[in-house]
Amino acid sequence: MTKDLFNINIGYASLKNPIATAPLAGITDSKFASKFSNAGLIVLGGYNLDKRTNEAARKEVARGRNEFVSDDPMNFLEQELTGSRDLTTIAVNVRAASLEPYVQAAHLVKTYGAILEINAHCRQPEMVELGAGEALLRDVPRLCEYIREIKKTGVVLSVKTRANVVNDVELAKAIEKAGADIIHIDAMHPQGVDIGVIKRIRNSTDLFIIGNNSVVDLESAKEMFSHGADMVSVARGVLEGISSHEATVHGPGLHGPGLIDHLVDEISAIQSMTGWYNAPKHICGGGDLRALAFCCLPVKDCALHGALKQAGISAEEFMKLKMDFTRGTPLEPGNGTCFGSMAWCCKITKPCFLRDSALTSTRLSDVDYMKLKKKLSEYIMKKRKK
Ligand SMILES: Cc1cc2nc3c(=O)[nH]c(=O)nc-3n(C[C@H](O)[C@H](O)[C@H](O)COP(=O)(O)O)c2cc1C
Ligand code: SF4
Ligand code: SF4
Repeated sequence: MTKDLFNINIGYASLKNPIATAPLAGITDSKFASKFSNAGLIVLGGYNLDKRTNEAARKEVARGRNEFVSDDPMNFLEQELTGSRDLTTIAVNVRAASLEPYVQAAHLVKTYGAILEINAHCRQPEMVELGAGEALLRDVPRLCEYIREIKKTGVVLSVKTRANVVNDVELAKAIEKAGADIIHIDAMHPQGVDIGVIKRIRNSTDLFIIGNNSVVDLESAKEMFSHGADMVSVARGVLEGISSHEATVHGPGLHGPGLIDHLVDEISAIQSMTGWYNAPKHICGGGDLRALAFCCLPVKDCALHGALKQAGISAEEFMKLKMDFTRGTPLEPGNGTCFGSMAWCCKITKPCFLRDSALTSTRLSDVDYMKLKKKLSEYIMKKRKK
């Protein structure tokens, strides 16, 4: 498999596939990560960058939690970056009680071509008391100030968040406006995974989205991808010797490197066969706004109208957008299809002999058809009101 199969680039970071490992404090260090070099991204940490967060971590260890603790945090971080530099693309998830350590870490991380990830997720009281972790979700102006200052270093920046703590759409918009590149969102919900949060963030920002929570197999990964995730990450699933409690929460099946290898193989096969590994479900199937690329002419009473309203695009503008984009491209023809042009045709995974015969007569492969639909969706998304 080559990097070009997916062609995922975020600033100076390029990712060979859209499968990541997520951070588990006290567990996911460079040694642990050495078994996961097949992943497109390994998120190490969370590391504590200053004296106060290390002291807080010591208190957590004293009550039985796993944490990385160091008396010389920046040196420790550098050792971890050195130890993992040849594996794959690396991100480091970090916590600090003030801005300066983040900026210092950002300079370091950038020299290794890695990604810095602000941990705005941790809810351990010792960290929250210091204004770290989840406290940042509740103090968006401070989080945004951190993002703006850290981005001045030129580092590729991710923010790890937990869903359903604050208004996720407003939070994601603020994170994007402040200049972060990636939102790594734990789609946690009291009743299970909140897949809708991925869709809401996809519809309202252009951030690179890493979807996280309960990815345990291809089906759960596809749910994230088809609602707008650019990448999915796995935390508890990377543990091999899981406890019986985790097994109950997390279910049976593959764990550890085997799960990551399986997900990489499956998503690579999907990308090779379809050209768009995270294509959305149709709008009427609950897909995000990218799926407007697959919608029919707006002539019937269906979910399209609600989606257009949400996108701030009128039916007339929608027709013009599709016709302008497809004019002169292999998507324009479509004799015998429902609306006379493949501009209005469905996803390749929806069986349709009418479209397939139009594809044959235009000599357009399934992969090239989907690549054009992806470009059409990007064109439409640029015109939406966020
Ligand atoms: C033991 C443990 C430690 C964790 N440590 C961190 C951490 O340091 N930083 C962070 O952002 N998330 C941390 N998380 C959250 C995970 O990265 C992930 O968001 C969460 O477990 C849901 O994903 P999963 O269903 O794949 O496990 C931790 C989770 C667990 C279970
Ligand atoms: S226009 Fe077609 S694809 Fe889109 S929501 Fe309506 S029925 Fe579904
Ligand atoms: S011809 Fe087939 S693919 Fe095209 S819009 Fe009609 S049902 Fe969908």
